[in-house]
Amino acid sequence: MAESIPDLRGVPKARAYAELEAHGDAVLDGIDDAIAGMATIASLVHNAFGYLWTGFYRVATPDALLRVGPYQGSLGCLEIAFGRGVCGTAALERRSIIVPDVKKFPGHIACDSRSRSEIVVPVNGARGDLIAVLDVDSEELDSFDEEDQRGLERMVSWFARSGQ
Ligand code: SME
Repeated sequence: MAESIPDLRGVPKARAYAELEAHGDAVLDGIDDAIAGMATIASLVHNAFGYLWTGFYRVATPDALLRVGPYQGSLGCLEIAFGRGVCGTAALERRSIIVPDVKKFPGHIACDSRSRSEIVVPVNGARGDLIAVLDVDSEELDSFDEEDQRGLERMVSWFARSGQ
């Protein structure tokens, strides 16, 4: 239920993410399913902050291909090759990427022309392998900073912590 997700717009980010992470851990307590985790985390982040698009691209072929997973927002691109766009670059380089202005990121893939800034964080499984990336898109320029990176990285640490 959307009404059970707190509206965290305007709340200082460190506090907002701490609250969201606790919320996610409580909702997912006892759940052993990566898709359920992705759907829950995408819904929490998307609705708490009111972003344009929030979702996961899963590793379909290791080191080669990402395929869209659970998300919230308008239609996402279905497949992204490693090394392409922000998601593919984050997957290839196994690192979080903050893009303050998508027009200035060479090779950015515009699934929705309203997207102005984005952040992508890698998602590792329990064995330390890359299982997905989390992509969050905003309609505003410069929406994301290191606090978002830290917060989102902590949220997706659920996958390794829960044995996915
Ligand atoms: N902008 C992303 C593609 C995914 S969508 O925006 C949902 C990228 O450049 O990887």
